[in-house]
Amino acid sequence: NPHLVIAVDGPAASGKSTLAKRLALHFGLRFLDTGLLYRAVAKAMLDHDLDPGDAAAAVRTAEELEAEDVQPNRLKGEAIGQGASKVAAVPAVRAALLPFQRRFAARPPGAVLAGRDVGTVVCPDATFKLFVTASEEERARRRYEELRQRGEAPIYAAVLAELRERDRRDSDRAVAPMRVAPDAWVLDSTGLDADAAFEAARRYIESQL
Ligand code: C5P
Repeated sequence: NPHLVIAVDGPAASGKSTLAKRLALHFGLRFLDTGLLYRAVAKAMLDHDLDPGDAAAAVRTAEELEAEDVQPNRLKGEAIGQGASKVAAVPAVRAALLPFQRRFAARPPGAVLAGRDVGTVVCPDATFKLFVTASEEERARRRYEELRQRGEAPIYAAVLAELRERDRRDSDRAVAPMRVAPDAWVLDSTGLDADAAFEAARRYIESQL
């Protein structure tokens, strides 16, 4: 079996993590949501009353990150997401988190990594590169529903505004901005549910294997 690496990049609430997880299960690969690393840095800073906008403190926090800081259930929430996109704009933070991501991708039998720069920076030689998008409105609606399911009382306009702000920060940063890799297959999941998005991606990958 050849070593398979699948990069799944895309903006916030595009459904990339859900898709990546299902692809990993289907192809028997390991799964890493790289956004959790940036979220863990932001959460550790917020827990210590540090400002995620403080670049020097973000670098120290990233360099001292421990495996137990990366617990998915504790890293949800838009405040942590916004903090994550601030620390993610600091080049030395990205550099500190890079070796772990590359080692993860290199370990047999291969992996699916979800994020913003997996196909462009982390794994430029990935076997497959997917870029998942959906309209802003649909992504805001999905995030809004997700928050409601969790018992919160979100305001749609605020959810949409936060999503836009985070996308803008992720696309405009100087280092590893969110970009569609030239050799990526783009999946617009607007109007597709998780099953339909998975089927489309699975068909694409299997047609190329
Ligand atoms: O994907 P998620 O929303 O969990 O990511 C949180 C933040 O982490 C993103 O807004 C982005 O700034 C940053 N990130 C990144 N590169 C990645 C994954 C996430 O810069 N590969």
